[in-house]
Amino acid sequence: MSTDANIQTIACKPYDDQRPGTAGLRKKVTVFQQPHYLETFLEAIFRTVAIEPGASLVVGGDGRYLNSESIQVIARMAAAHGVGQIITGRDGLLSTPAASNLIRERRAAGGLLLTASHNPGGPNGDFGVKFNTATGGQAPESLTEAIFTASQDITSYRIADLPNLELSRLGTQECGSFAIEVVDSPAHYAGVMERLFDFERMADWLRAGHRICFDALHAVTGPYALEILCRRLGAPTDAVLHAEPLPDFGGFHPDPNPVDAVHLAELAQSPNAPDLIAASDGDGDRNMILGPGLMISPGDSVAVMLAHANKLPGYKDGVPGVARSMPTSRALDAVAVSLGIPCYETPTGWRFFCNLLEADMIGLCGEESFGTGSSHTREKDGLWAVLFWLNLLAAENRSVGEIVATHWREFGRHYYQRQDFFIEDASRATALVEALRESLPGLPGQRVADGSIETADEFCYTDPVDNSESRQQGFRIGFGDGSRVVYRLSGTGTSGATLRVYLERFAADPATHQEPVTEFLAPIATRAAQLAHIEKFTGLSAPTAII
Ligand code: G1P
Ligand code: ZN
Repeated sequence: MSTDANIQTIACKPYDDQRPGTAGLRKKVTVFQQPHYLETFLEAIFRTVAIEPGASLVVGGDGRYLNSESIQVIARMAAAHGVGQIITGRDGLLSTPAASNLIRERRAAGGLLLTASHNPGGPNGDFGVKFNTATGGQAPESLTEAIFTASQDITSYRIADLPNLELSRLGTQECGSFAIEVVDSPAHYAGVMERLFDFERMADWLRAGHRICFDALHAVTGPYALEILCRRLGAPTDAVLHAEPLPDFGGFHPDPNPVDAVHLAELAQSPNAPDLIAASDGDGDRNMILGPGLMISPGDSVAVMLAHANKLPGYKDGVPGVARSMPTSRALDAVAVSLGIPCYETPTGWRFFCNLLEADMIGLCGEESFGTGSSHTREKDGLWAVLFWLNLLAAENRSVGEIVATHWREFGRHYYQRQDFFIEDASRATALVEALRESLPGLPGQRVADGSIETADEFCYTDPVDNSESRQQGFRIGFGDGSRVVYRLSGTGTSGATLRVYLERFAADPATHQEPVTEFLAPIATRAAQLAHIEKFTGLSAPTAII
């Protein structure tokens, strides 16, 4: 802003609940609608981050309820805090990976991403704000903690008096020394994908009669999928389902998993299933990949990607290393061993990959929660994963099922499942965790159900780049037969507590590669339930969701 004349200082009261979780501050829309709630949190960010005068900030979101009005508030507060320019997408829409990429390419000071990811939207749903740094990656814990601390002392915030910005018009609008630039994000993102994948080959594959079905679940990826799959690769427009972003996601729970997107699991089982079926979540960073007759578990997906990466243009020289979050299956480790590259084990949450990516220590990484990504951006990337698989199918000219079966024959199969227990009374979850923590030292050598426990620890991560330590990142129980159970509490919920129990069982023998997952893992599930006394602590005799 040219003068201070149009900057106001508004008095407010601090809120005590603005501690960001696994991925930013996520709350019910009604919480964000409290007086000055958003402004207080933004003020805490601006005071903590101290953006250089005149710098750019990328701002955009997944289109959920409160998206556009929040962008107007951010613009006015950014102007008051000396930001020179904000860059956003048409209608204020930016997928999380596209925003991350834009921050890097435009050398912005950082980004404010408005999303609650896969949580439902609409007036009764969730909203969220996430700060990404100039690297394009999520703010590290030290920064989010500093923001939280700052938020507790906010008694006023600064905001400029700006006219409402036109978010639907591409180009730059100037207001004194402050400007907003609205970019064609799908076109820009498509350009990034063209540098990584063989578009001609994919288009040929589609022209040859192969079919893809991508479900945008009325969330942010619709315009990106139309641009890439339909306009650039020539798929028919009905290959993209629910393409229009809506504030309430059209009532969908925009989480690409077999429970919330059961219609896609059913489509995969139908006689007329397309060759590739896929979906992404609210903000476009998650992915689900299915082929005729099967869904690929995310742990298998990233392992298969690594095994074939050098067949794709962007990865032809291989990758220096890979990483997976601790609860993710060890299928990736097996491929990394065969390639002689390191596989890092990080805590849950994408931000832990960022240092490794930034230091070029890894080129590919993934989480069991349907998140996969590479060094092209600093967030996981849903459509990128879909294009990776599409390019792979076109390059191999084999079906999803054939590629996966061959992979298991070579590396063995890591059967995998996650059980979620939603516990209304969060104190019951805390009690379970505390009891488990206390029992850990005595567990090795003991038996539970049909399993003998070999190892038991609480995961503590030391970041190999900056040596920061993250403690209490979940419990790992290893059994003599090579199977594993992991427990941790979710850090993204907006009410109660969710206990996540991760089950893994390795099967080397190809004769055991086509078993139903739940049945094959049933003995491990029994061990998990007994070991943590899940029913006693939570009152739940069965998981709320099996993913
Ligand atoms: C969940 C997933 C985690 C992912 C995060 C953000 O976090 O488990 O892998 O990084 O969402 O998408 P959680 O609720 O388990 O803390
Ligand atoms: Zn997401």
